[in-house]
Amino acid sequence: MRFIALTLAAATLLSTSVAVQAAPIKIKFSHVVAESTPKGVGGKMFKELVEKRLAGKVVVEVYPNSQLYDDKKVMEALLLGDVQMAAPSLAKFGKYTKKLQVFDLPFLFDDLEALERFQNGDMGKQLLQSMSKKGYLGLAYWHNGMKQLSGNTALRTPEDINGLKCRIQQSDVLQAQFEAVGVNPQKLAFAEVYNALQTGVVDCAENPWSNIFSKKFHEVQKYISETNHGALDYLLVTNAGFWKKLPDDIRTELEKIIAEVTLEVNKQAYDLAMESRQKVIDSGRSEVLTLTKEEVAKWRKAMKPVWDEFEKQIGKDVIEAAIQVNQ
Ligand code: LMR
Repeated sequence: MRFIALTLAAATLLSTSVAVQAAPIKIKFSHVVAESTPKGVGGKMFKELVEKRLAGKVVVEVYPNSQLYDDKKVMEALLLGDVQMAAPSLAKFGKYTKKLQVFDLPFLFDDLEALERFQNGDMGKQLLQSMSKKGYLGLAYWHNGMKQLSGNTALRTPEDINGLKCRIQQSDVLQAQFEAVGVNPQKLAFAEVYNALQTGVVDCAENPWSNIFSKKFHEVQKYISETNHGALDYLLVTNAGFWKKLPDDIRTELEKIIAEVTLEVNKQAYDLAMESRQKVIDSGRSEVLTLTKEEVAKWRKAMKPVWDEFEKQIGKDVIEAAIQVNQ
């Protein structure tokens, strides 16, 4: 009798440990945008590749459209282990590091190619580690696109925006950028933007084309000025402890997959932006304004003092490295 009980107990123990070993690692990836945007595409591709190459070892659940968390909450959720990956815009890390604010400086990067040179260079790579003391690890940079200004009045020069209320992301640089042109900036979560524009809580906003189209902002804004005054890119971020504790072979494979997905997202981002721009134009719901060189120069002149204002926080070396990539 005793022998049978012992054998049963041993068998149970064995099967439990087999089950524990066999349980796949779960990666929950939460983000706020539509699946048709570069980040949405990246999330889906990451899931597909992981589940193909690490079948049975890792499962990925992607939660788009702020289904799970907004970008503020997701950073807390990462530390708590409630999600394992997120990709907030680079504008949203000010609470954790001041260095990433470089990405918000208006008119600093000429285009996505310049931005990519910076991200792939030494400084860009160093910045991936800039939040390690806070428990976060940057895994990659993903593009969305250059930002455009939308409003219910035609915003051609800084005088046109003076006195308006614009929605901004959680970023002190973006706050300063808008204050420099006489705007009253309102920090709102992405999921609140459509309503805020529709109900007139704010008059204007800045967004890249894929966000404008996929979230229908062009249906609640009469004009979109093609200012390309800054970039909206993402940091794919994880909990540093979680990442370090992954088995080596799994971490290595995940890193390979991330590198592939990053290449693809960044390759597609510009085309996705242009497609969304065209769809906005075709919809006839808002007018796209092409600015003259002189008009763009006025925005640049009015907003550029923000570089000096934030130089101390960001670091002169970081800003200098960014300036270099335009040449
Ligand atoms: C925003 O809040 O406007 C963006 O950060 C949303 C996003 O993830 O593109």
